[in-house]
Amino acid sequence: MTEHAKLIIDGKELTLPVIEGSQGEKAVDIRSLRQETGYITFDPGFGNTGTCRSSITYMDGEKGILRYRGIPIEQLAEHSTFAETAFLLITGQLPTQDELTRTSVYLNDFSPLHENMKAFYQNYPPQAHPMGILSAMINAMRSFYPELMDLEEEMNKTYLRLISKIRTMAAMAYKISTGQKVVYPRPDLCYCANFLNMMFDNVVVPYRIDDDLVKALNVFWILHADHEQNCSTTAVRVVGSGKVNIYSTISAGISALWGPLHGGANQAVINMLGKIHKEGLTVKECIAKAKDSNDPFRLMGFGHRVYKTYDPRAKIMKKMCDVVLSKMRINDPLLNIAQELEEAALSDSYFKEKNLYPNVDFYSGIVLRAMGIPTNMFTVMFAIGRLPGWISQWKEDVADPEMKISRPRQIYSGSTKKDYIPIEDRG
Ligand code: CMC
Repeated sequence: MTEHAKLIIDGKELTLPVIEGSQGEKAVDIRSLRQETGYITFDPGFGNTGTCRSSITYMDGEKGILRYRGIPIEQLAEHSTFAETAFLLITGQLPTQDELTRTSVYLNDFSPLHENMKAFYQNYPPQAHPMGILSAMINAMRSFYPELMDLEEEMNKTYLRLISKIRTMAAMAYKISTGQKVVYPRPDLCYCANFLNMMFDNVVVPYRIDDDLVKALNVFWILHADHEQNCSTTAVRVVGSGKVNIYSTISAGISALWGPLHGGANQAVINMLGKIHKEGLTVKECIAKAKDSNDPFRLMGFGHRVYKTYDPRAKIMKKMCDVVLSKMRINDPLLNIAQELEEAALSDSYFKEKNLYPNVDFYSGIVLRAMGIPTNMFTVMFAIGRLPGWISQWKEDVADPEMKISRPRQIYSGSTKKDYIPIEDRG
């Protein structure tokens, strides 16, 4: 029997269809509500609102499950590469060997930047945040690469051009901001090795590619590659729904990711741990501050809108943290603080009752720091990883016959009608 929901408003009964997803999640379809009753729903932050049907990523926040196109994140982190996972997200299938080779060739071919784009960086003030620069650069790509044809082959090239160039842009931003000579991409290196080389190779000490670090970076980017309808992905879908070009749409996603409650949390975690270390705060004091509703302090890297258990990405990240730190022979005092904070929070009733567990950002900053990535580049690293997800979600959105321009309603709470008062009469 098809399920329905019944709603009684102003004495009128409305029967609303129920939609069921492939994993059994259910939604009440309220599309006829306003037309039938004049009412709208009220759901700030969209906590109870499904805005699309999607076959890209499945999350179960209660059980701590995350899958891309059906494949568990743990399997992808162990066996896949970032380039292969990007292909999986965008096309829906794992690539054949031929497809993967072709993808790698395009990622290499597209990696240099238009020389005129370099001038962008040089004109930014030295303290400019790289997320602001990245968002502007990606938006500028529309002018440098205007040919956006509807042909599938051309669009596939556009996706790969974005994935390839964002990595060059990020490394170039770092080199220019630190006054170093730009290192150009090398065609003989894979995606992650190329990035590390562009970041850390220099005229004095040539960079030695380390397979463990390349693997760690692959895992880092795989873990960030998609996370269904989060803040930045919703920004991508909303902006894209106005039919703006893909570059401007992705640029909006980057801006949304920058915030400390979202992708900026990895930088915020390190700043928090650094402050605790510098000021000699005790773990007990931090936990008390995080629990105090009159104190704006939050335990950054803790809590999630969907996960009500340990974030599965955080589990993998925590393990990777040990690998990278021992590889780099680093003894990071911030790691000790993080571990103590985690232990104290997980046994505290406030955190237990509110289901606040470490999320992906809790350990990712420590991993990036150990790799030598500067703190203000952390959110850029997240953005590079999330790009295949944004592209997949945008692609799904534009092809979906059910989708319309995003245009929510509101409950107006301002003044009722009043007359204009000439300035001389305003008192
Ligand atoms: N420290 C202390 N208390 C917290 C925290 C925290 N990190 N997170 C949530 N709470 C409390 C919050 O004060 C609220 O308490 P009350 O019910 O008494 O008002 C309750 O838990 C629910 O929090 P919320 O802010 O209503 O939950 P949300 O779903 O709107 O927000 C969140 C989710 C991730 C924004 C929030 O947990 C947070 O601010 N965490 C810290 C920032 C962070 O780590 N963000 C990265 C998220 S994962 C990366 C990504 O995918 O973006």
